[in-house]
Amino acid sequence: QVEENTHTPAKKPPPMSILEVGGVPLPISSNEIWDKISKFEARPDDLILATYPKSGTTWMQEILDMIQNEGDVEKCKRAISLDRHPFIELTFPFKKKYDFEMALEMPSPRLLKTHLPSHLIPPSVWRQNCKIIYVARNAKDCLVSYYHYHRMTTLLPDPKSLEEFCQKFMSGEVAYGSWYDHVKGWWAAKDKHQILYLFYEDVKKNPKHEIHKVLEFLEKTLSEDVINKIIHHTSFDVMKKNPMANQSTVPSSIYDFTVSPFMRKGMPGDWKNHFTVAMNESFDKHFEKKMGETTLTFCV
Ligand code: A3P
Repeated sequence: QVEENTHTPAKKPPPMSILEVGGVPLPISSNEIWDKISKFEARPDDLILATYPKSGTTWMQEILDMIQNEGDVEKCKRAISLDRHPFIELTFPFKKKYDFEMALEMPSPRLLKTHLPSHLIPPSVWRQNCKIIYVARNAKDCLVSYYHYHRMTTLLPDPKSLEEFCQKFMSGEVAYGSWYDHVKGWWAAKDKHQILYLFYEDVKKNPKHEIHKVLEFLEKTLSEDVINKIIHHTSFDVMKKNPMANQSTVPSSIYDFTVSPFMRKGMPGDWKNHFTVAMNESFDKHFEKKMGETTLTFCV
């Protein structure tokens, strides 16, 4: 286990082991841990934030925390993101637990994060009819962000070249599996459960509009002044400077910030700076095959 909040480059842990669950490769160390995760007891007033990795989880987490704390910036700076909101299935090699075990001790109402696909969500979440906010991000930006994340974290294997990583992403041979199945699975789930399905690009384009949607979903009202404060506090530039939100306190043995910051670009369309014409053509063909029949559409 690695000391937290220290920048001493201690011995680097090996990448997290991958467990295949329900056809999905999950970064979970054993069947015993998975068993505990799937038996996690949700409470009816839990709010769940679900995403595929690199879809703006940390960003939406900050927005939701600001909403739950009615725009009180100091309250939202009470602790680093990892400490504020349990990550249901996260079993990072920290001394401290940031996963479902941390959630057990938390008073309600809790905000819980997950990257699990809809079919692997602990059944108690459905039983308790919890509200869920899902954020989807367009596949190409997600891929590029995930690629840089693989480069900078020792938790995940070396992605090698972008071309090689692109093949793995398309075939779903990455932690949390297929992006296509993830976004489609949650899209289908929204018709049966209390799910607000949002898009990263929409939040970027018109944060006020998307915050209003969240407020309506949560049956909350906030003044325009508070909403403007939330938009400011959660803007990329402000969050990037906020050590409670930018993940800069993660030890350098886990995140190598000399390779890439966690808050990297925060821009829709960055894939255009990375994809070659050939990569783009083969990606588009594959995308069409995987997504052709859904009503789910992405911009950029
Ligand atoms: P990039 O690598 O494209 O910059 P997650 O929190 O799910 O791991 O997602 C991380 C991605 O969200 C990173 O994308 C990060 O920069 C971006 N992000 C984080 N905060 C953001 C914000 N306030 N505005 C826009 N993008 C943000």
